[in-house]
Amino acid sequence: MIVYLLICYAGVHLASAAVGKNIFLLSGQSNMSGRGGVVNSTWDGYIPPESSPNPAILRLTANLTWEPAAEPIHRDIDIAKVCGVGPGMAFANYLLRKNPSIGVVGLVPCAIGGTNISEWVRGGYLYKQMMRRAAAAVAGGGTIRGLLWYQGESDTLTLEDAEAYKNRLRRFFFDVREDLRLPVLPIVQF
Ligand SMILES: *[C@@H]1O[C@H](CO)[C@@H](O)[C@H](O)[C@H]1NC(C)=O
Ligand SMILES: *[C@@H]1O[C@H](CO)[C@@H](O)[C@H](O)[C@H]1NC(C)=O
Ligand SMILES: *[C@@H]1O[C@H](CO)[C@@H](O)[C@H](O)[C@H]1NC(C)=O
Ligand SMILES: *[C@@H]1O[C@H](CO)[C@@H](O)[C@H](O)[C@H]1NC(C)=O
Repeated sequence: MIVYLLICYAGVHLASAAVGKNIFLLSGQSNMSGRGGVVNSTWDGYIPPESSPNPAILRLTANLTWEPAAEPIHRDIDIAKVCGVGPGMAFANYLLRKNPSIGVVGLVPCAIGGTNISEWVRGGYLYKQMMRRAAAAVAGGGTIRGLLWYQGESDTLTLEDAEAYKNRLRRFFFDVREDLRLPVLPIVQF
């Protein structure tokens, strides 16, 4: 429900923006990166229809170039593990189905499997990488429309981390919005 409402909210912005790419940052841990169809460290290669490639969906590669997006979209980002299907393509296809006139959707994969919220803190490696990729993404023309966030399992290992999670996540969201200078950036938390 929350995801649905936020997508509608993002859609309002998208409707009024015909110029440049509609850019979404995809961050978090393995669940965002995508392990769908991975068994015993091998991806089965199956792409569900809702995650199929679409000429209107691009992805920012690890070397900061745009290419037509196809699963696994984190394959050159989350390189320590085998990637499969994640939520990014299904999200982009859904947006385009809801509003075919929005133009190009640019996905910026940034998720790394197994990471905890402390590793995403402002100033840390993952945060800096995400900001660097966000800057490269908009440099080619376009606007960051949202952050898709799917992370948290790594912060359930101790009660202390679990209890600190809410505040750490709030801090992270606040910092991202501040550093991107997008104070009302829609954030979809999976
Ligand atoms: C998230 O990823 C972990 C590790 O791959 C998996 O065990 C878990 O089921 C996933 N959670 C959801 C809600 O898909
Ligand atoms: C995965 O590996 C385990 C242990 O090697 C094996 O028993 C199992 O059959 C494998 N599953 C698949 C789907 O290959
Ligand atoms: C960057 O990545 C794209 C897609 O993987 C590839 O086609 C291109 O050759 C790469 N460019 C450089 C400079 O590595
Ligand atoms: C988060 O992950 C890092 C790297 O694996 C680890 O050093 C750290 O102890 C973990 N937890 C916290 C709360 O920082």
